[in-house]
Amino acid sequence: MKFFLDTPNLEQIQEAQSLGIIDGVTTNPSLMAKEGITGKENILNHYIKICELVDGDVSAEVISTEYEGMIEEGEKLAALHPQIVVKVPVTKNGIKAIKYFSTKGIRTNCTLIFAPGQALLAAKAGASYVSPFVGRLDDISHDGLLLVEQIVDAFNYYGFETQVLAASLRSTLHIVRCMEIGTDVVTCPLKPILGLLDHPLTDKGLKQFLDDHNKANTL
Ligand code: G3P
Repeated sequence: MKFFLDTPNLEQIQEAQSLGIIDGVTTNPSLMAKEGITGKENILNHYIKICELVDGDVSAEVISTEYEGMIEEGEKLAALHPQIVVKVPVTKNGIKAIKYFSTKGIRTNCTLIFAPGQALLAAKAGASYVSPFVGRLDDISHDGLLLVEQIVDAFNYYGFETQVLAASLRSTLHIVRCMEIGTDVVTCPLKPILGLLDHPLTDKGLKQFLDDHNKANTL
């Protein structure tokens, strides 16, 4: 299972990269704005900085909702760096753009997936990734992880090469459930990933080992 970091924050990306467990980065226009990264040139430069920090795929989202605009923006984003994956919303124009990008060898991440049929169309169009939003479904009392499971099962059944990238993950348990489902990729902030390490018996066991060692060696 691949781990992507869902942030444009360079310090957080650096920290995750130094742990050696990060396979890529996802961003979206809200996250960029929250980090204070504004203006066309700054945004494009920021994507390059992220690509230089991590070894894997970096999702960069188009802002246009029109087909021509998506193509123009997506080609510009893809030309920035070989690690860039163009993030496109699952609209009619988005599906058409994904098809165009797939014929041009430009990789895509189809975003804002909230239903299995949306993922199916994105895969048919040749998306490299589909991003079901788990937390946002949970927020409205729908089972976000059930959606991930439905997509993973369908893609396995039909042999689609499109990878399922579980997004909008909010907790460590979301990650563990995605592992059980067989999700290709999870994306979230660093905190829930580090939560995977936490176990009181590990802390207790380590303390016991060190206490026993110290006792035996100070006699
Ligand atoms: O990757 C999508 C993600 O950024 C959305 O997360 O927490 O805003 O639902 P959230």
